[in-house]
Amino acid sequence: MSARRIVTAEAGEHPDRRATLLEVVDLSTRFRTGRGVVHAVDGVSFTLDRGKTLGVVGESGSGKTVLSRSVMGLLPSRNVIRSGHVFYEGTDIIGFDQKRMSRVWGAEMAMVFQDPMTSLNPVLKIGTQITESLRHHLRVDKSDARDTAVALLTSVGIPSPEQRLDDYPHQLSGGMRQRVTIAIALACGPKVLFADEPTTALDVTVQAQILDLLAEQQRERHMAMILVSHDLGVVAGRTDEIMVMYGGRVVEQAPTSVLFNDVKMPYTEALLRSIPRIEHASHQRLEAIPGRPPKLVSPPQGCNFAPRCRYVQSKCLEETPPLVPAGDPSHRFRCWFPVGTPEGAEALARNEAAGVPVGLPATAPPAAASGATSTASAHTTEEP
Ligand SMILES: Nc1ncnc2c1ncn2[C@@H]1O[C@H](COP(=O)(O)OP(=O)(O)O)[C@@H](O)[C@H]1O
Ligand code: SF4
Ligand SMILES: [Mg+2]
Repeated sequence: MSARRIVTAEAGEHPDRRATLLEVVDLSTRFRTGRGVVHAVDGVSFTLDRGKTLGVVGESGSGKTVLSRSVMGLLPSRNVIRSGHVFYEGTDIIGFDQKRMSRVWGAEMAMVFQDPMTSLNPVLKIGTQITESLRHHLRVDKSDARDTAVALLTSVGIPSPEQRLDDYPHQLSGGMRQRVTIAIALACGPKVLFADEPTTALDVTVQAQILDLLAEQQRERHMAMILVSHDLGVVAGRTDEIMVMYGGRVVEQAPTSVLFNDVKMPYTEALLRSIPRIEHASHQRLEAIPGRPPKLVSPPQGCNFAPRCRYVQSKCLEETPPLVPAGDPSHRFRCWFPVGTPEGAEALARNEAAGVPVGLPATAPPAAASGATSTASAHTTEEP
């Protein structure tokens, strides 16, 4: 099934970007709320080549879903401020209105959401939900749409697909429902699939099956994929590149093999330590990250991971670290005292020798250090 191309000869087209499927440049998304402006996504940039997989990882509230929705233009229409560029096949689609985006949704970019129960319509039969999308985008007749729907359900591993077309979502198990949402997302042959925590709502025994299914479909269709997860373990073996998000910002970004061999950002290190290990019978987290994610309304000065960081020094509370290249230029990170460097080792040793609690810098002069308790707690806040 071939996807229809969107019209590309638009103002804003950038000829050099045609080799890349998707290029996001300095994308920011803010929400105006009664409590102030929420900086949900802050200056995120990445590129995605055809057929490749980008993993987006971070704790709950780090901006993963807002980022995916911002790229796809699926944000609420009110109280949203979005800036930056989203080049899709060379065309900046950031300014596209709903009508133009509707030609992109499904046929060019599609999304699989976390909870299949909320993305499926509970009062419509599965068959209707799949064929509606096919008829809208591909303009096929009813009988062709039904045949295609059966083929799609077969390809996503649903047994007796003809019978399932007449089922309602509640008649299927969670895993089968997620297979249906994947079939719907694939229906019009998108070139990019956003899979936003596609297994989080599922039983642990079917999680791997769904991830395998996504990988298999991606390979067969030569689709690019953005795989979003709070769990670094989920994306570890399934991505070409990983982008770690914290408080709406990218804090580390690298090809997957490079990242796991050379973690630089203490937050990534903390996420790694929190990956559940198979050898632990209960799959319990090895080490929870202490503290809470940062405030997104009026974000604090300095590094927003400081209150939870074992390496923190006074400089971290004053200056926001920029995203800089590591030894491998495809690897970028934000940190003044990176893991695995002499500066990082010194910072950690200094904090440990001083016996200060995590989040307090041993380098601060005594007055600042005692005040640092309040600085640290001012950084650590509840979600907006
Ligand atoms: N419509 C909205 N209005 C205000 N704040 C929002 C809205 N949607 C998301 N947020 C906030 O943006 C932040 C990032 O959310 P989200 O992208 O859903 O995080 P994640 O997917 O990483 O768990 C959160 O603090 C969330 O509360
Ligand atoms: S060492 Fe400093 S800059 Fe690096 S993550 Fe920790 S607090 Fe942030
Ligand atoms: Mg989310």
